[in-house]
Amino acid sequence: MGIILEVRNLTKKFGGLTAVNDFSFEIRRGDFVGLIGPNGAGKTTIFNLISGFEKPSSGSIRFDSTNITGMIPYKIVNLGVARTFQLVRSFKFLSLLDNVVVSCLSNRGRKFSKKVGAEEYASSILTSVGLVDKATIPPVVLPHGDLRKLQIGKAIGGNPELLLLDEPFSGLSFEEQLGITSLIKKLNQDGVTIFMTGHVLRELMALVPRVLAMHQGKLIADGPPQEVANNKIVLEAYLGKGEGFA
Ligand SMILES: Nc1ncnc2c1ncn2[C@@H]1O[C@H](COP(=O)(O)OP(=O)(O)O)[C@@H](O)[C@H]1O
Ligand SMILES: [Mg+2]
Repeated sequence: MGIILEVRNLTKKFGGLTAVNDFSFEIRRGDFVGLIGPNGAGKTTIFNLISGFEKPSSGSIRFDSTNITGMIPYKIVNLGVARTFQLVRSFKFLSLLDNVVVSCLSNRGRKFSKKVGAEEYASSILTSVGLVDKATIPPVVLPHGDLRKLQIGKAIGGNPELLLLDEPFSGLSFEEQLGITSLIKKLNQDGVTIFMTGHVLRELMALVPRVLAMHQGKLIADGPPQEVANNKIVLEAYLGKGEGFA
């Protein structure tokens, strides 16, 4: 299958700090790829650059052969790139159903939701993320795991081809992690390309067939998780931070 995402020599500087440093990689359509690195490595910045929330200092990003470098976020969403945030964001005072309806009514979402209607479409998404029983309540009263499911549901509403998940497991209980894991696996089986970050390698190991490892803005390893976990430079990057793999 073809390349869906091509990142070339991507660099992002914040004043004197180079958060992303000459970073290049490709992701193929249908792939399931993890991005790991200790806190502060530059993972979220990479996602911000791909999704248009930050503009690169240099380098290029192509999605599905369209040059999206520096494009504004809603245009990138319309092309089929969705992302979730490390810190959960949602419309606090809308019901869960309406939260998902909003994304079903986006330009791209409408193409898919208009046949059955946005509400029904949103309801089917809530079913697939396991939240349909809570459709009428607002997110303010939900536990963390449900909020993450909602975020993923909102992303699915826009029918992404590429889904960027930033630390989807952070702050979740083991059971909540299992729920999110099976949801992400199912999305990938349904054909959505998944690119996800995590700062704990072990969580991602069991899940993804390929891991990119970064440290201080640079790509330091790219391969199967077992191989990356035994890579000397990766081990040193984690040990230097005192974080380990646990
Ligand atoms: N908007 C910003 N302004 C200044 N520095 C930033 C900004 N965003 C991120 N950084 C810095 O860039 C580095 C990488 O951050 P980040 O991408 O959030 O790392 P990660 O997600 O891997 O923990 C950190 O040193 C962080 O402090
Ligand atoms: Mg981050």
